[in-house]
Amino acid sequence: MHKINIAIDGYSSCGKSTLAKQLAKEIGYIYVDSGAMYRAVTLFAMRNGFFTDLVLDEKQLIEALSQIEVSLAYDQETESQSTFLNTENIEEEIRKMPVSQRVSQVAVIKEVRERMVYLQQQMAKSKGVVMDGRDIGTVVLPEAELKIFMTASPDIRAQRRLDELAGKGEKVSYKEVIENLKHRDHIDETREESPLCQAEDARVLDNSNITREQQLEMVKVWVDVFLLSC
Ligand code: CDP
Repeated sequence: MHKINIAIDGYSSCGKSTLAKQLAKEIGYIYVDSGAMYRAVTLFAMRNGFFTDLVLDEKQLIEALSQIEVSLAYDQETESQSTFLNTENIEEEIRKMPVSQRVSQVAVIKEVRERMVYLQQQMAKSKGVVMDGRDIGTVVLPEAELKIFMTASPDIRAQRRLDELAGKGEKVSYKEVIENLKHRDHIDETREESPLCQAEDARVLDNSNITREQQLEMVKVWVDVFLLSC
């Protein structure tokens, strides 16, 4: 069966990973969470003392880059796809606020991006990948057969993220969450290296007023139409 690559880009917390995960599962593709890789590098920088409060020593991180092994794999123990830093499963830790508050600073660094983009392109070489992020349709997989640009209103995104964090027992306020989203969106959109922007040939999916199930059905139709046409 002919396989394609699917790129999903968009703002923070607009449901990219939910859609990408569900879609990959339904159509038997591999899900690649590119944001998790930047989060893993951020955790490495925090643990190694490269941050003083919220300020990053970029030089130290760039020098240490070759020591960082980031991978995405199925963990038998937790029975879920997880992010690994060297051999440690760091999936839970990278979703917490301290990493969210610092990740966009790490993701602006050219050397970090070059390394992550290389790894992401390797993962998609054999096709059959659903990858979500900020620069997938524009930089990582510009040849992806289907590109989706997701968006939703900031209030809705913040509420969804707050619910997700509350579900994991993390105590954060709505204000903290929305400020973090807006701050990350701003850095992501205005950075020099691979800023977040919609690829010319991407389809826009605003999911402010549709359910997860509805968005999944919509995208499955797009995939089917594409596969039937080739
Ligand atoms: O929290 P959310 O799911 O929105 O973000 P994420 O996908 O986990 O990505 C975390 C951060 O990594 C983003 O805010 C971006 O700064 C950065 N990122 C990036 O620069 N390029 C990507 N392809 C993916 C993420």
